[in-house]
Amino acid sequence: MAIQFSSEERSWLDQVALAAKELGLETYLVGGFVRDKLLDRSTKDADFVCVGDALALAQLVANSLKPRPPVSLFKTFGTAHILWKGEWDLEFVGARRESYQSDSRKPTVTPGTIEDDQLRRDLTINALAVSLASDRFGELVDPFNGLKDLKDKILRTPLPPEQTFSDDPLRMMRTIRFATQLGFKIEEGTWKGICAQADRIRIISQERITEELNKILLADTPSVGLDLLYRSGLLERIFPQLVSLRVAEYIDGHGHKDNFYHTLQVLDNLSRNTNDLWLRWAAVLHDIAKPQTKRFEQGHGWTFHGHEVVGGRMVPKIFTQLKLPLNEHMRFVRKLVELHLRPISLTKENITDSAIRRLLFDAGDDFDSLMLLCEADITSKNKQKVNRYLSNFQLVRERCREVEEKDQIRNWQPPITGEIIMQTFGLSPSKPVGIIKDSLKDAMLDGVIPNTYEAAFEFMLEKGKELGLTPVSSGGK
Ligand code: CTP
Repeated sequence: MAIQFSSEERSWLDQVALAAKELGLETYLVGGFVRDKLLDRSTKDADFVCVGDALALAQLVANSLKPRPPVSLFKTFGTAHILWKGEWDLEFVGARRESYQSDSRKPTVTPGTIEDDQLRRDLTINALAVSLASDRFGELVDPFNGLKDLKDKILRTPLPPEQTFSDDPLRMMRTIRFATQLGFKIEEGTWKGICAQADRIRIISQERITEELNKILLADTPSVGLDLLYRSGLLERIFPQLVSLRVAEYIDGHGHKDNFYHTLQVLDNLSRNTNDLWLRWAAVLHDIAKPQTKRFEQGHGWTFHGHEVVGGRMVPKIFTQLKLPLNEHMRFVRKLVELHLRPISLTKENITDSAIRRLLFDAGDDFDSLMLLCEADITSKNKQKVNRYLSNFQLVRERCREVEEKDQIRNWQPPITGEIIMQTFGLSPSKPVGIIKDSLKDAMLDGVIPNTYEAAFEFMLEKGKELGLTPVSSGGK
């Protein structure tokens, strides 16, 4: 079978083939590019393997392509990289044979044949090679029936799975990630290999594990991957807090939801409406403190009071543990975890505008994300119940829209600043300034005063008087 390439792909492929011919090097396009090409998935990363000196090959290709920036040659590793037209990543490496020691993930590498090179790869679908030789250009080299596995949607290791996964345990996560991204099944022996080698994941750096976890979370149906991670035993090693949600307890015949599978369902629901990785992380973590806050109250059943606050506090710890960034993304996730019960509490009757204003104010720019998360959080086996909650939730959305239109709370900045308060009463930064600021905010959100400078100024004077303060200036009024 021969693969067809687009004219854009031919513009760089032909140069590689010409250079390989000139140097007399047997050269192949391998790995993810071939897999994705056959699956009709778009891809811009092309890996070339030649039997011999990859640096010489890359240099000759660069002489004709004249890439900007120039070719990068990594002499210590015997690899090279060309970024072509700012979008194609062309990687060059010599065919190699690898052997691993059990206590390290650094292999001993020696030059090898193309078959050796294919054999050291993680999955048969990633071990496909395409020849660039002029008499067999585009011909598929497929010693492990990778094409059949691709057609049958099967993930299988070329070597005995224990060996492939023990050599490089990250491949267990990659296999589960591909199962999630591509909707493929993991072949039975390969699955058993993952379960047997799960403990080896400990030798992999957290950054690489988390990179795979993020790719799983970004798939169309991320629950597939998280469930496989759980069932293989990998999840308890890389993210035990999530596994703790799995335990469902019974007292006096009262059980509670399995919060692990509930979380997975929330994540899938949400993923239908957003590709935002951090919003998806908020779904993963929204109930993370349920095990710690769980109580059985006679007459009430199970409660999880305060799980949103305790969960919010766990976010920085989990981000640190998983080496996720401790920046505005973390703060966003924490805020959403803390606020995730608020919109649903507004589905009760007789909700005041004040409660709505407070939610709009507290959520600010993240209001739309919060609403997506809360809507996704409505899960139940009872379809009617779900539909009833969803339509109540639409009413909350509607109320929020009306209040926001009227009062513009989401990006509200108090019309009276701390500066103005200090000037008016001749104060330096001190407690009364904070008290006045907070009461102004409350008065505005509770609808005691309208959202105008004049009303706020009058209110500030009143509040100052209550605190025994006398104005020393008109404060620019
Ligand atoms: N590979 C492997 N074991 C790994 C990583 C990579 O065997 N732990 C091999 C596979 O043959 C893979 C190729 O190296 O196809 C290129 O790896 P990479 O670019 O990281 O992944 P892709 O398979 O191209 O897929 P993706 O870009 O989605 O990660």
